[in-house]
Amino acid sequence: MSECKLQPLNKPLSGEILVPGDKSISHRAVIFGSLANGITKITHFLDGEDCMRTVDAFREMGVYIDVQDTTLIIKSKGITRLVEPSQPLDFGNSGTTTRLMLGILAGLPFFTTIYGDASLSKRPMDRVVNPLRQMGAIIDGRLNGNLLPLAIRGTTIKGIDYTLPVKSAQVKSAVLLAGLFAEGKTKVTEPIPTRNHTENMLKAFGADLTIDGNTITVTNKSELTGTDVHVPGDISSAAFFLVAGAIVPGSEILLKNVGLNPSRTGIIEVLNKMGAKIQIEAEHSVSGEAFGNVRIAHGSLKGITIEGGIIPRLIDEIPVIALLATQAEGTTVIKNAEELRVKETDRITAVVDVLTTLGADITATEDGLIIKGKTSLNGGEIASYDDHRIAMMGAIASLITDSEVTIDDASCIAISYPNFFNDLESIS
Ligand code: S3P
Repeated sequence: MSECKLQPLNKPLSGEILVPGDKSISHRAVIFGSLANGITKITHFLDGEDCMRTVDAFREMGVYIDVQDTTLIIKSKGITRLVEPSQPLDFGNSGTTTRLMLGILAGLPFFTTIYGDASLSKRPMDRVVNPLRQMGAIIDGRLNGNLLPLAIRGTTIKGIDYTLPVKSAQVKSAVLLAGLFAEGKTKVTEPIPTRNHTENMLKAFGADLTIDGNTITVTNKSELTGTDVHVPGDISSAAFFLVAGAIVPGSEILLKNVGLNPSRTGIIEVLNKMGAKIQIEAEHSVSGEAFGNVRIAHGSLKGITIEGGIIPRLIDEIPVIALLATQAEGTTVIKNAEELRVKETDRITAVVDVLTTLGADITATEDGLIIKGKTSLNGGEIASYDDHRIAMMGAIASLITDSEVTIDDASCIAISYPNFFNDLESIS
């Protein structure tokens, strides 16, 4: 347990932050680098706990991975040379590692068992196990394979034509990755688009991939080849400072090298719609992933409704958007975000608990939140729920409370943003 006591700031934030590498892209860069033949160099990698679970999994399967701060060198002889792990793989808190690795392990010719921490052991895996079983995968575990630990006996699998029943990039990615090992074509259709980093990286590593509207098709035809990947800054990490800049009076912050892939920029649209002073500068693109600097300044905000197709494009930012909404005039309504209930914790319950303790007017609905603003926030003792994004939201809230905020355990922040408090201090 690392209890964390935070004092109100009482002054503006100012300065620049180089945002840490994107978590989703870092996981995928390790995965594709390990499946590819040759050398892959990854720069600006996120060396948080979650992504290191993916690194460790491939090391267990015989891949050479050298990690020097945020630069990784991967040397692999490709899919056919991966070896059976001699012990169960510990995926810690990482849902992305678990769900994407399931797609890979299903088609590899060996036996693996996987497990995780208390939070991961409660999260639904049937969303991935079901389509993989349709492909012929042999997977077993508690509740008919819905809960970790899971045992996977790799086997011959075949392509399927699958329409995603949940708005989940992890499920889409698991099926596409399995498609690299499957006989025939694997097609995934997503009624509502989710983050497309897997598709971008499949292309960059030379996979046989076609995209037609919302349908992605992959085959096992081509061998993947190692390549260099530069990871953009994580917009989901930048979000905490975007909100900080928007709500702390007098602030102006520049966030550098933020990933601006349109499948992730819902938070920017929300800030614009709420009337925040936000500007994008120096935009460019590397390997299909857009980057840019984002400048944010304090200003008055108004409540809005957030619903429909934008939800997957800001799903991880909703806890901190809820905090933002407490500082907006009027009502903010968030709908269609039922996926929040199955994240690292039930984030609808957690956000309502934390922000209510701090004096906000916030109500949970089945699939979202209703926040009435603008309210001044008070100090208090809050729980992180062992969820990195809840802990960081609480830390940003403490900047504008009238007295001390105590977070029961903030160590979970290392999952996605090990340098969070140093970066916060650098602009305080
Ligand atoms: C992720 C997809 C999202 C997101 C998670 C990372 C990914 O999860 O919440 O933090 O890297 O594919 P879902 O696929 O469950 O929506």
